[in-house]
Amino acid sequence: MSDDLILCQSPQPGVQVWTFNRPEKLNALSTPMLRRMDSLLHAASDDQTLRCVILTGAGEKAFVAGADIEEYASQTREQFVNYQHFSRDLFCRLEGLAVPTVAAINGYALGGGFEIALCCDILIAAAHAEVGLPEGRLGLCPGGGGTQRLVRSIGRYASADVLLAARRLPAARAMELGLVAQVVPGPQLLEAALEKARQIATIGPLAARAMKRLLREGSDLPLDAALTIEQEALARLFDSADAGEGVRAFTEKRRPTFTGR
Ligand code: COA
Repeated sequence: MSDDLILCQSPQPGVQVWTFNRPEKLNALSTPMLRRMDSLLHAASDDQTLRCVILTGAGEKAFVAGADIEEYASQTREQFVNYQHFSRDLFCRLEGLAVPTVAAINGYALGGGFEIALCCDILIAAAHAEVGLPEGRLGLCPGGGGTQRLVRSIGRYASADVLLAARRLPAARAMELGLVAQVVPGPQLLEAALEKARQIATIGPLAARAMKRLLREGSDLPLDAALTIEQEALARLFDSADAGEGVRAFTEKRRPTFTGR
């Protein structure tokens, strides 16, 4: 087993798979792991060849079982607050990555693990996976956006069940609630995520980036302002070489070759 706390592999061009790699602790998020995520996010945001990042966990049991509670136990208040600021910043940067992200939830995604998944664009889950925000059982609450991103995703009442009753949602229920796009048998999860990345690669790269930004930014805007940023984005895409190529390829009955310009 590698001692790299988050493995980064590129099984197909333009795709990175980040694997949280501390399976003996259910991939719990330690500070060294957050630092590794920081450097991966820096590198990914500078990588113009990247089209999709897939996040998953090592082993079959957990995606990420939350913040490292053993580390919490030894922290001063200042260290605890710094950990929370750091993870909030990282999760926002993950959410703000220009390229689409896919969470391949291979088991428990709890606390910070679910918060990471909520910062991804498309969630795919193994049939045995469960997501939840059990911080209340520690006498705490989520600090990496869990309450706020969940309520914006599935509404107040379903969120209250997850938070106030510490309910873990099985993959199938998470799909019913619209969180998870696809549930597959565990052994097929990574291939399903790679297939999703291949589908993402059929979209113009500028269009994918624009639609990702519109989904995230537009959902917090009044409708009129959101419709305006959509039309501005469309007008910019119309000026791109890729839009010329995409429309021409359709009329010529061939597959487009996008260049990201
Ligand atoms: N932080 C630190 N260690 C964790 C962890 C976490 N969030 N979650 C699991 N682990 C560790 C366990 O302490 C155990 O370590 P050990 O073998 O050295 O004792 C190991 O991972 C396996 O976990 P275990 O609890 O034995 O597995 P389980 O199948 O009985 O239960 C969970 C799985 C996910 C239900 C349980 O581990 C759990 O509730 N984890 C905490 C989830 C949580 O509260 N997350 C939010 C944190 S703010």
